[in-house]
Amino acid sequence: MSKITSIEGRLLYNSRGSKTIEIDIISDNKFLGRVCAPSGASVGKYEAVSFPNGNPEESLRILKEYSQKFIGLEASDLKSIHDTLRSLDDSSNYSNIGGALAFSVTIASMESASRALNQPLYQTLSSRSSFTCPFPLGNILGGGAHAGPGTPDIQEILICAIGSKTIREAVETNLSVHKELRNVLEKEDPNFTNGRGDEGGWAPKLNNEKALEVSAIAIENLGFTLGKEVSLGVDFASSTQWDEKKQKYLYERAGFENSPDKQIEFAAKIIEKYKLVYAEDAVHEEAFEDMAELTKKFPKTMVTGDDLTVTNKNILKKAIESKSCNASILKVNQAGSLYDALEFAEVANKNNIKLITSHRSGESVDSHIAHIGLATQSKMLKVGIVGGERVAKLNELLRLSEHGLICGMAEI
Ligand code: PGA
Ligand code: ZN
Repeated sequence: MSKITSIEGRLLYNSRGSKTIEIDIISDNKFLGRVCAPSGASVGKYEAVSFPNGNPEESLRILKEYSQKFIGLEASDLKSIHDTLRSLDDSSNYSNIGGALAFSVTIASMESASRALNQPLYQTLSSRSSFTCPFPLGNILGGGAHAGPGTPDIQEILICAIGSKTIREAVETNLSVHKELRNVLEKEDPNFTNGRGDEGGWAPKLNNEKALEVSAIAIENLGFTLGKEVSLGVDFASSTQWDEKKQKYLYERAGFENSPDKQIEFAAKIIEKYKLVYAEDAVHEEAFEDMAELTKKFPKTMVTGDDLTVTNKNILKKAIESKSCNASILKVNQAGSLYDALEFAEVANKNNIKLITSHRSGESVDSHIAHIGLATQSKMLKVGIVGGERVAKLNELLRLSEHGLICGMAEI
């Protein structure tokens, strides 16, 4: 047991070069927990806001003013840390102190406690005695809110090496497909600049259909069978296309519009044709019934909510009632505090909703989410494939796989 003796914050920058905050918590004058907050670009309507009025300095000012409230608390007592944050902000979306502060303080405290206990973070977060390794789910081609004009409207084409027996094999397979896709894209377009989107996926000037085609070709060029050793996934991030007024999905780059029924058809065709193992936010964030249609139609695909469920346990309960998804993204900063996110994970696991612990498009080089993925029994870890801030999480998973506690890959 160790008590918090110091808590301080600083202003830093994320992978997009935007301002963010980092929090240092020290317990018993020597055990440092340090966490730098990420942030998203395609954010859900109901997720925690990163900073009060978009201002990271304000989060830091609040922390400074109230730091004494945290001094003396048990670093491992996540509930007390969470309740202290809640005494400063009882809004639904942490709009007073910023979700980034709740994120960083709660994880830093648990990291400090882990150092005091001389054990890895995932063990402090879970009382289980054995863990399975989540499959890395990585972005190979980016569009939408993560890349510029001319790229697909679809935000992310992802791969998962579902046939891999070890985490190393899975990481290496993802890297090889990402690399092969560059060769395919260079043949397709001699002017391809090797440009990449926010999460490290290639950002070519291609329409949605062509982008999916070249992704499948890259997998097959390496001798893999699509859907066997390596599967494709898609994050449609459909709220980006949804126009509330017109009640239509506007695919501006490709030049077409989808009614809600057409959107279901559009997504279903892609899931079928490319044997998707994973389909995220195929309809907009409030279309619970439409998601339910896809979930019913594709029981073998992880029909996943991200903007739909925003790591909010009450919204997830609604999604479970309406059978809107069979899988859900877990992003701690969507929820706000780690305590909120672990409560969300408990609801998901009790109801057989498969979890995918995920990075944000604007990241730090921290790797705590590898531990959070393990502790929450996540089936996948969505962290990209290349880029220092993405590889940091995969490298941590590789380090952790040396522990005898981690036995094999998760079942997906
Ligand atoms: P974001 O996007 O981090 O930019 O919100 C990631 C996602 O939609 O999964
Ligand atoms: Zn998403």
